[in-house]
Amino acid sequence: MSIKTSLTQRLGIDLPLIQGPMNGVSTIDLAVAVCEAEGLGSLAAAILSPAAMREQIAQLRSRTTRPFAVNLFVLGAPQVDEAQVLRAREWLAPFWRELGVAEELPSQWGQDFPAQFEVLVEAAPPVASFTFGILSAEQIERLHARGTFVIGTATTLAEGRAWVEVGADAVCAQATEAGGHRGTFLVPFDDALIGGFALYRQMAAALAVPVIAAGGIMDGQGIAAALTLGAQAAQLGTAFIACPESSAPPAWKHAVMHASADSTRLTRAYSGRPARGIVNPFMQAMQAHEAELPPYPVQNALTSPLRRAAAKAERADLLALFAGQNAPLARALPAAELVGVLGRETAAVLRAGAALLG
Ligand SMILES: Cc1cc2nc3c(=O)[nH]c(=O)nc-3n(C[C@H](O)[C@H](O)[C@H](O)COP(=O)(O)O)c2cc1C
Repeated sequence: MSIKTSLTQRLGIDLPLIQGPMNGVSTIDLAVAVCEAEGLGSLAAAILSPAAMREQIAQLRSRTTRPFAVNLFVLGAPQVDEAQVLRAREWLAPFWRELGVAEELPSQWGQDFPAQFEVLVEAAPPVASFTFGILSAEQIERLHARGTFVIGTATTLAEGRAWVEVGADAVCAQATEAGGHRGTFLVPFDDALIGGFALYRQMAAALAVPVIAAGGIMDGQGIAAALTLGAQAAQLGTAFIACPESSAPPAWKHAVMHASADSTRLTRAYSGRPARGIVNPFMQAMQAHEAELPPYPVQNALTSPLRRAAAKAERADLLALFAGQNAPLARALPAAELVGVLGRETAAVLRAGAALLG
């Protein structure tokens, strides 16, 4: 099975399908399964230390000869406001006590992006994708010099244009439906909540590089719609959460498989950066304080022991149940099988569309 677009030909993959990088979900097994099934698998490396990144990229490379992507968050030094941290700790304390988590400050707020970037350049994966910010033209030139194809995430047309200007090879258009963190970097988050139909079309019509549609795509109908709107591939995240290769705890997979159309909303409660997830009691309890929580990665580091303990205790009421608006269409299939089904569904929809011409 092969569905060709200019992007699949450039990347050397047979399906216009990218498994979205997902912290807490993506594993090497998941990426390998998608690559071997002829999509593009991604390694979510943003929370990995430079040493762990080097090791995981090597492992992935040893398990597939097909192209794969490595993803990072473009971040500056963390903004730490002691008074804000103190207040956030007070609001989190009842949850820490309930789960028996020690009330200690984290030893580091987040990973050192410049050090991660050096490992990425050295490892030279076939594809590198970025979110949360934008690279400089010099950084992109360094990746290009190593043969790495660069994808930048954009949530508005202006962000897409900014990525094209610094030399990105493709833009991932992240629509408001998408699960997980918003990649917005040029405007306030609330000004960048554009639906897929508008965003994919605007970007595909205006940008000189291939557009990858991300957000709300769960099946062949969605992939075919994205291609019809002018995208050259679709990036699916939520569709892979319930796969056996995903590292999401069972309570998270269960929540995705039982989600309804209105289950999700955006929250800053877990990380300090707006992210879409299934509403649960923790999100509701923190809602009143959301505006005052420290920004990413500070709040993320503060809630990290809590999320780990909640995962161990199978506490869906406290876990971050990140997922997109189309979670009700999730299927708990092995990743290779899911990619096969997605490819066949997409081909069937494209054929049915051609048949309408009579
Ligand atoms: C749990 C979760 C974690 C995610 N983590 C990342 C990440 O680390 N880097 C990134 O670029 N995108 C991340 N995303 C976005 C996905 O890669 C993908 O673009 C998005 O899920 C597409 O929307 P969908 O969830 O509606 O399929 C994440 C999404 C989810 C649901």
